[in-house]
Amino acid sequence: MLWSRFISRLFKEAKPYLQARDDFKHARISHQYALLLMGREQGDKKIVEPAVILHDVGWSCLAPQQIALAYGVKAGGLEALELNRIHEVQGAVIARHILQTLDYDAVSTDQITLIVERHDSGTEIATAEEGMVKDADKLWRFSQIGFWKEVERQQVGAEELYRHLDKHLWTWFFSLTAKELAENELRRRAQEMRLVLPETPGHTS
Ligand SMILES: [Fe+2]
Ligand SMILES: [Fe+2]
Repeated sequence: MLWSRFISRLFKEAKPYLQARDDFKHARISHQYALLLMGREQGDKKIVEPAVILHDVGWSCLAPQQIALAYGVKAGGLEALELNRIHEVQGAVIARHILQTLDYDAVSTDQITLIVERHDSGTEIATAEEGMVKDADKLWRFSQIGFWKEVERQQVGAEELYRHLDKHLWTWFFSLTAKELAENELRRRAQEMRLVLPETPGHTS
């Protein structure tokens, strides 16, 4: 199968599992960031692309109220951690099932599912590919579509989300490329906030 056709097929297979948190666009945009990162740094596309497309299929195992508790600016405490862990662990199970259905090679499948299982936890990475997936996932929050989507679905103010992202800018990312992309995006979000909320003081870029 052509690689581009395989990627389209993977999006199609992942789509039903991405409905729970309305994550299809998140997967698309994170995939675009992963391509951007791979264009600038070394990374195996056979690992990075499937992992980033499939990384959030595990939200399909949680109820909407659990999802709301498990992630975002307001998430905290043991319950949030446990629920978040479920989306990683179950996501790895579902990702393996999808890849096996498509006859993907076993060694790559093991590496991909390991990344899915760790994508939102830990501050260490085992491979460059894991770092790229984690960076591409986080970059979504800084993107125009991602930022305003998160304002809406987390029910937080744009300023609050902006401050949260600004605080984590220098701790979340593994590559300098991702940090720079995030910083540039955040500057654009600050400009948009001045347009949307012109009376709100205190935005910094
Ligand atoms: Fe996730
Ligand atoms: Fe994600």
